[in-house]
Amino acid sequence: MNVMRHLRVPNNSVQDVIVLLKDNALHSETMRIFPDSDGKHRLIPLSEQAPDTLPALLDGYQLVIVDGVPYGDDSGDWWEHLRELVGEESITLHGESWPSNHEFIGDMMIVRIEEDVSQYRNEIAYSKMTAHPRVRILMEDRGVQGEFRIRDLVPIALREDDELIIGDISEDKIDTRVMVRESGKMILCDPTKAYFSTKLQAERIETLSMARRLRELLGRPIRVCDPFCGVGPALANIITEESLVSDVMAADLNPDAISMLLDNLRRWDGRKYPETPSAIQRIFPDRIVGVADATELSSIAEMSNSWDMLVVNLPHKTIDLLPGLIHLLDNESPSLIRGRVIIAESDIEETINKIVEITSPLHPHPPSVSLKVKRDYSSTLRLCSFEAWLGTAESDE
Ligand SMILES: C[S@@+](CC[C@H](N)C(=O)[O-])C[C@H]1O[C@@H](n2cnc3c(N)ncnc32)[C@H](O)[C@@H]1O
Repeated sequence: MNVMRHLRVPNNSVQDVIVLLKDNALHSETMRIFPDSDGKHRLIPLSEQAPDTLPALLDGYQLVIVDGVPYGDDSGDWWEHLRELVGEESITLHGESWPSNHEFIGDMMIVRIEEDVSQYRNEIAYSKMTAHPRVRILMEDRGVQGEFRIRDLVPIALREDDELIIGDISEDKIDTRVMVRESGKMILCDPTKAYFSTKLQAERIETLSMARRLRELLGRPIRVCDPFCGVGPALANIITEESLVSDVMAADLNPDAISMLLDNLRRWDGRKYPETPSAIQRIFPDRIVGVADATELSSIAEMSNSWDMLVVNLPHKTIDLLPGLIHLLDNESPSLIRGRVIIAESDIEETINKIVEITSPLHPHPPSVSLKVKRDYSSTLRLCSFEAWLGTAESDE
């Protein structure tokens, strides 16, 4: 045991005092904060280097000398840190509202904070950052918005060298571009500028295996069209697999997404793609890339009737847009649509029928059209993935 000085601080002032102590390099990084026996205070360990006379701002707090509690080798569970800061009672009171889940995008962590616990934003931020010492920046996710489907992300904690900044973080301090490794490929993204979700990794692996099946069916490398490509994650594995793909079309309405896509393609494709995004154009004989409205693609002559696989990832609009996109597929040979759609649970059958109607004639070999519920989007809506195999048996090559 290590007898040391602690500040005895009322539970609701712990976060403020931690900030003060950290600003003055007085906080012990190796020892835990723990509850006083009265349940109303916490004991915050002081660094051994802290002077005998503490800054006047801390005058109001009692100094106690008790055994310190070390963190141990790991950085602990975030719940332990949170419990130390807010107390068991608050943890129980707010139950399921605490953000037990989070998403890692490179060295960025993203959390959703429910209204019910929003007054503990700083405590949540401190606890998550302390439990995950490799995280550089913590963003609060306030939901997806606008045409570009970008998440409204607000920085709530930043680590700079060993310093932890919680709360007000000036925009110019933050670099929100991150590199994510997925299935061995590096993907550049910036979730504050373009849509990106690590949760779609399993989906992308399934898409790759569908691309392989299509390649087998056609007996030649396939032509892939991704008109809502974002930063291009669906293409990462498909484009890099030897002899899987011949031609690629990748477009998005968001120029920032295309800017990062070009960076990604440079790495995955090993070619000199332009530095800056421009309107959709043929960049190489087998690569068409750029900013475009997907609803206008079919009217471009070299675009229609030209592709074997169509990726449609704009789930809230897929069914409305599908009739206009279908002409992109080559109707003389079997082809595949890989899509995502948000629908009410009660509309699943009807949606399958609509897809069948839009995509017919369907390929005779199962599964033709198959739709799977992936997760709840809201209490009534479901996020689903589907595959539709088009073409007649005679169109098999
Ligand atoms: C759900 S995100 C999917 C992005 C990417 N496919 C992925 O999986 O990460 C949908 C994308 O569609 C783009 N988008 C929205 N409307 C569009 C349109 N009319 N034409 C082209 N792209 C559009 C958005 O900018 C966004 O990047």
